[in-house]
Amino acid sequence: MDSLISKENLNRFESIFGKTTQPIRLFQAPARINIIGEHVDYLGGTVLPAAINFAVQVYLRPNNTSNYKLHSVTYNQTVEFQKPLLPNPKAAWADYIAGVIVEIEKKGHLVPGFDFLVDGNIPQGSGLSSSAALEVVTAFAIKETFSFPISREEVAVIGQKAENLFVGTKCGIMDQFIISVGKANDCISLNTDTLNYSYHHFDLGNYEFYLINSNVKHSLKDSAYNKRRSECESALLKIQTKYPNFTQLYEVNLSEEELNHCHLTSEESKRTKHVTSERERTKIVITGLESGNFIEVGSALFHTHWSLSKDFEVSCPETDFIVDSLQNLGVTGARMIGGGFGGCVLVLDKKDHFSKIEEVLKKSYQQKFNLALDFYKFQISDGVKEIYI
Ligand code: GLA
Repeated sequence: MDSLISKENLNRFESIFGKTTQPIRLFQAPARINIIGEHVDYLGGTVLPAAINFAVQVYLRPNNTSNYKLHSVTYNQTVEFQKPLLPNPKAAWADYIAGVIVEIEKKGHLVPGFDFLVDGNIPQGSGLSSSAALEVVTAFAIKETFSFPISREEVAVIGQKAENLFVGTKCGIMDQFIISVGKANDCISLNTDTLNYSYHHFDLGNYEFYLINSNVKHSLKDSAYNKRRSECESALLKIQTKYPNFTQLYEVNLSEEELNHCHLTSEESKRTKHVTSERERTKIVITGLESGNFIEVGSALFHTHWSLSKDFEVSCPETDFIVDSLQNLGVTGARMIGGGFGGCVLVLDKKDHFSKIEEVLKKSYQQKFNLALDFYKFQISDGVKEIYI
């Protein structure tokens, strides 16, 4: 990614927006993985994400006007807008930036005009949170440039609200949070109910995590995501009529018989089953990582995958095929990560297995789906930061 701190992008910036005496500043936000705790971060659950070394980079310079002038290198598109800020169907990528400006202004900080160039190498739609990275780097760049007293945790909430209210995906807080507070070599455990979190360092010994990108992106992903969220909310409302003490679906610890009295639809019961069983798997993974019991961790990852596939119904034939094949090839653990409906699979395995797995799986996947697979080795890296140029 360091290659993106490029003379080329600085030159591009000045050729699009002109030269001024104001300095151009550069900010960078990472992608993220999530080890365990999937589809629980909008239900008060615990998640275990880490920032990884893919990135979105933003060059920003105040322009002493009230206009926001943006350029995306990926889309090779320049847009300019002023308040009132409204979604722009012709440049959907700019909505993430506009949404962040709106949320910062709601906190009482007037955001002056600026010139802004964005570039990045996070594969989009791959479950690695390229949109959260864009929201977080935008909020961070604005608050640093204009010296707004906004903490990293608040940057995360601003990003989530921009996505929920301006873009319209009802995502949880996990992605924006880890991208804001991540630290090299550590994952965090985040309680998404209280937003309390702590850093964890695990020594993986002879094991490693890596990613496999299915290269599948489903267009109904966002609407299906919002539907899952509303099914979980309606399940909780029904449970609360019998058991009013539960404030979050994640806390529900009722027997099958007790749940039967709540008259959940079959979808609501399956969603509840995933969420509450994920709570138990998360405990297993945290203790397994701490004690070095990677077999137990791996087995929990497989169980999470099949729970996401069968009960939460957010997988797809391609990622199911990858996980199933990995399981048959004797890999330690694997599961889809992120929102689902394609994207990446996270793998935990012995380091010396990698080359064998890569070769076999690429071939069988190509044969079955006529699609290439990408394998990514990664490093756990820092959260959003300024890069000094
Ligand atoms: C997406 C969302 C997150 C989270 C995951 C599933 O990445 O942005 O908030 O809900 O899906 O765990």
